Amino acid sequence: DPDLGADVLAGLRDIADFPINGVVFKDFTPLLLDAALRDRIVEDTVARRRGTVDVVAGIEARGFIIGAMIAHALGVGFVPVRKEGKLPSAVHRLSYALEYGTATLEIHQDAVSNGERVLVVDDVLATGGTLAATCELIERCGASVEAIELVLEIAALEGRSKLEGQEVFSIVTV
Ligand code: PRP
Ligand code: MG
Repeated sequence: DPDLGADVLAGLRDIADFPINGVVFKDFTPLLLDAALRDRIVEDTVARRRGTVDVVAGIEARGFIIGAMIAHALGVGFVPVRKEGKLPSAVHRLSYALEYGTATLEIHQDAVSNGERVLVVDDVLATGGTLAATCELIERCGASVEAIELVLEIAALEGRSKLEGQEVFSIVTV
């Protein structure tokens, strides 16, 4: 889908001074409203990953939306990586620095098992803390990260440097 990157970029909305003054937030909610464009994002990802992964892990909250659609289209299971205190069973937990503050993520210890190949999905790669923590949580379960799929990557924040050794694909890089 050669036009997908440009169409996704055109579908993102810039919001000034969110969540803090001086930050221009890339809002992806218009993409979710556009059913055709949303389906192209899913199909593009599925074309790259079909048959290569056992399960999709999506990161709360925006990674749930896109990750669940990709899991459905791939015909594989879905694992929620959640913010602290939301998962009811035994978890692995990791705290990390975020662009604006700190955060803690958790995964059910039995969500993925030894040797499973996991596709990690989120909307944005910014500083990379969220994805690095997610990859470590998956590895603590004994599974392995096959690839990371994103809609948007903010190159200036150098998140890729925290993901060395991982295959990272972003539909759009700004
Ligand atoms: C945002 C975004 C990514 C993360 C990227 O999530 O959805 O998950 O930040 O930032 P990083 O690369 O610097 O770690 P956030 O927790 O802000 O909100 P959400 O619950 O709406 O997904
Ligand atoms: Mg998020």
